[in-house]
Amino acid sequence: MDARIIQQHFQRHFQDAPTVVVRAPGRINLIGEHTDYNGGFVLPAAIDKAIWLAASARTDGRFAFYAADLDSFYLSDDSNTVFQTEKKWANYLQGVISETRLSGKNIGGLNVAFGGDVPIGAGLSSSAALESGMLFAINDIYDLGLPDMEMVRLAQRGENHFVGMNCGIMDMFTSIMGRARHVVRLDCRSLEYAYFPFETDKYTLLLLDSGVKHQLVDSEYNTRRKECETGVKILQHHDLTIQSLRDVTPDFLAQHRHEMSDTVYRRCRFVVEEIARVEAACTALQQGDFEAVGQLMYNGHDGLDQLYEVCVPETNFLVEQARGRIAGARQMGGGFGGCTINLLKKTQVDAFVKDVNQAYFNAFQQSATVYNIQITDGVSRF
Ligand code: GLA
Repeated sequence: MDARIIQQHFQRHFQDAPTVVVRAPGRINLIGEHTDYNGGFVLPAAIDKAIWLAASARTDGRFAFYAADLDSFYLSDDSNTVFQTEKKWANYLQGVISETRLSGKNIGGLNVAFGGDVPIGAGLSSSAALESGMLFAINDIYDLGLPDMEMVRLAQRGENHFVGMNCGIMDMFTSIMGRARHVVRLDCRSLEYAYFPFETDKYTLLLLDSGVKHQLVDSEYNTRRKECETGVKILQHHDLTIQSLRDVTPDFLAQHRHEMSDTVYRRCRFVVEEIARVEAACTALQQGDFEAVGQLMYNGHDGLDQLYEVCVPETNFLVEQARGRIAGARQMGGGFGGCTINLLKKTQVDAFVKDVNQAYFNAFQQSATVYNIQITDGVSRF
């Protein structure tokens, strides 16, 4: 699926050419998992897997959406109102409209066709790509004048309030603000960000998709968030300046360990350590020390598995195949399946992929899909 095909789908369904065609990328995250909703740091990048979205205004106030990959169509009534529907994919688009309206902007009817190559449920944020693309399109069509960071916030609110997924801000931020050949460190509390070049002749990034769809993620994700909040509330009894786990040091957490359940302690410990790992990874990147970045990735994976408990046997297996062989690997994204992100020397790629695929097939009787990814710019007009 690419821009040309989406334009053709649009033409076929709406008998007209779109006024705007948008490319909205998926994302990777080098390190910094489950830190965004804890006010911490993340280190993601936009990638060359994207949603293409073609759109134009409609005069009858209806919303007509076509999801090309699913061959599914949604048409609202003529009240120019958004309603939650059983077609979950349509709620991502409507959530964006709903929140943008709540922010005081007027939006009339819309025709939209979209599709792309961001795999769903693989931890590459296909939903944030869709929301970002939709925001970019309505900003253009209805001349809303929304600055980039406002689009980021509206996309997140749409997903939180309309779709009901209590996600953090990392995914939509990356889809909108990504920059080619750079990872971006976002301070999810202040929303300050800084780009770090990810340029090396020697190393590359590779994704291995376990093929396990992260169905559990919505409910378990919200549970993890609550556990972190519980930890913060307990720690606030001792220091009211603590707003989130970002404000907590490992020592302070250890001191108050006995006041919380073991589960809450382990969730908090993972987050506190993971926030520190992002900062360490930025320093290592600046020094060109990719082996150190990789070690932090392995440590992050161990925390995700043992402390945050969001890994599955398949992703653990993929990381174990990497350990001791390549610079770094870890499960990426919300958890419960999806992709591992692997940092390795370019000269290692062929043999690594061959061996891991064989071992994975022997263990699970299924193949892991390999994605060689490039880091690209964020959302843009085609
Ligand atoms: C999902 C969420 C993000 C982030 C990650 C975990 O992708 O959408 O906000 O919390 O999980 O790092």
